[in-house]
Amino acid sequence: MGSIADRTASAAGRTAGVVAAAAVALLLLAGSASAEDLDRDARVAPGVYIGSASDHADPDAAPPPEVEDVLDAKRDVGPSTKIVGGQATFVSRWPWQAAILDGESGNGFDRQFCGGSLVAPNIVVSAAHCFYDTITDSFPPPSFDVVTGRTALSSTAGQELDVNDYFFFVDGGGNPLYDPDIDDQFDVVFIELASNSISPTIKIAGPTEGAVWAPGRTAFATGWGSLSSGGPFPDQLREVRIGIISDSTCASQPVYGASGLFFPATMVCAGVLAGGKDTCQGDSGGPLVVPIAGGGFRLVGDTSFGIGCALANKPGVYGRIADNPMRDPLAAGILTESGVNVLGSGAQPPAPPTPPTPPTPPPPPGPSAECLDAQAKLKKAKKKLKKAKKTDKKRKIKKAKRKKKKAKKAVEELC
Ligand code: ARG
Repeated sequence: MGSIADRTASAAGRTAGVVAAAAVALLLLAGSASAEDLDRDARVAPGVYIGSASDHADPDAAPPPEVEDVLDAKRDVGPSTKIVGGQATFVSRWPWQAAILDGESGNGFDRQFCGGSLVAPNIVVSAAHCFYDTITDSFPPPSFDVVTGRTALSSTAGQELDVNDYFFFVDGGGNPLYDPDIDDQFDVVFIELASNSISPTIKIAGPTEGAVWAPGRTAFATGWGSLSSGGPFPDQLREVRIGIISDSTCASQPVYGASGLFFPATMVCAGVLAGGKDTCQGDSGGPLVVPIAGGGFRLVGDTSFGIGCALANKPGVYGRIADNPMRDPLAAGILTESGVNVLGSGAQPPAPPTPPTPPTPPPPPGPSAECLDAQAKLKKAKKKLKKAKKTDKKRKIKKAKRKKKKAKKAVEELC
């Protein structure tokens, strides 16, 4: 049925225990991490560093046993679905949207198991739970591909790119901070592609751009996740318009407070509390974006989990990638790998929609200014004629008559 769980399991392949030495906290490239790296890059957020699958892999490890929907069972309590309450869209509208495909045969529709966001030509941000092997409790070497520039999964549009490696958060001892046995925090990875995508990238909302994703702001989520709880998976990309939900609301009892699943340091909620609009299974790892003034968007989250999909008071929970402790180590790791600064700066929220300017009232019905003018002249001419008649001066009367005639003509023409 193509759930996240079985696809993730198949992507697991060979895997291994964590072999990182405690002394090496920043494992960006196999064998390349040094104390200098540690000083320069790793201190951006205490205790949160970046490790890679290649560094953690043990090539001698035995293949893991078959896994059955472990993630599904854990992650989606109750009914679940792909993007719910949204609409079909095109990758041209969300050109950073990536699809993660497993290595098995079939077309893109059969192989897709998660989404992602292109933040640099060779870097895609996605969710840790898409790749983590819950049997071996580790991140296996990459055995998946990334597609960009494709709207319909079953088509061959866009680019299918090989993966060099992928990177996740680790603690000072090199152990992954994403640990689904404990909670769903740090549900973020970045994937390094073997070649560049030509698709446009999206920037992550930077440290000065908090206003663009403040609670109440409009947000959009996109993906190929299921359309309704237990419903079918679409072939065409979908989008849904939702809103950023405050940490206090999300942590309140009727929302996720009672469940103990929500951790505001590493998660942000977005959705519609009334229900009906949400991401769902298959959307994981994909973008949560907000519009910015002047056009364009910023990336603020990656689809992580929810209780069911689109249920009232159970909004989607997203990796909080635009805030520390994850933002700065993530950006530093990507900068090291790709040379690209993925953090935005200077963006403002879009101006509130300007109310439509009322149409200029039509000129009041009635005589035109020229007509009124002519009428006034005629009145004057009549007065003058009356006066002239009193004087009994023929020439004056004649002149006044002529003037009156002229004024009368003008009134006839203009009124
Ligand atoms: N865990 C799901 C996945 O792997 C994403 C679920 C999102 N759920 C939600 N209610 N927003 O695709």
